[in-house]
Amino acid sequence: MTHEKGFVIWLTGLSGAGKSTLTDALAPVLRERGLRVEVLDGDVVRENLSKGLGFSKEDRDTNILRIGFVANLLARNGVAVITAAISPYRATRDANRQLIEADGSVFIETHLAATLEECEARDVKGLYAEARAGRRTGFTGIDDPYEAPLRAELVVPTGSEPLDGSVGRVVAYLESRGLLPAREMAAAGAVR
Ligand code: ADX
Repeated sequence: MTHEKGFVIWLTGLSGAGKSTLTDALAPVLRERGLRVEVLDGDVVRENLSKGLGFSKEDRDTNILRIGFVANLLARNGVAVITAAISPYRATRDANRQLIEADGSVFIETHLAATLEECEARDVKGLYAEARAGRRTGFTGIDDPYEAPLRAELVVPTGSEPLDGSVGRVVAYLESRGLLPAREMAAAGAVR
């Protein structure tokens, strides 16, 4: 069994930018290509690993550093990790990049660049309306910061392109970095 290099696709973007949606579509595609995949989704992590944490800067940083810690453990064992949390603070994302790269894995900061207007127009969870009405304070993009990446490996315009286009964009990037086994190899069971 060959030992594939682990990597972390670190999705970042506003609530409603499509992080979970892209994750749900991308994970099975990577599994089909022979990778072992794990997902760390903010909403799920906050129900267990980060249960009890709120949305202060301190709590968000704790949440994001926990996700980075687990992502690193997985990636250094050859797992393809997708994380899906707002991760609004640049310095905290950078801390995770340092941890993960120092352990020899690849960190792929991926900005889901749907604008506030696009996310708010969809408002799938109804939370933007609550924030605008003042019933929810400290909401990212409304009265809490979102620090967009300055040099993301990937920028995905999730507000304006169809889901399969976004999936294709990530897959093409992984192929260009040699992180995705060719289809034939995966089919032959030659990897992991
Ligand atoms: S993060 O800031 O710590 O990265 P995370 O991705 O885990 O956030 O959780 C964000 C989700 O929590 C949002 O999609 C939304 O459903 C919910 N949420 C509840 N309150 C807030 C808030 N004040 N700001 C942002 N998201 C919130």
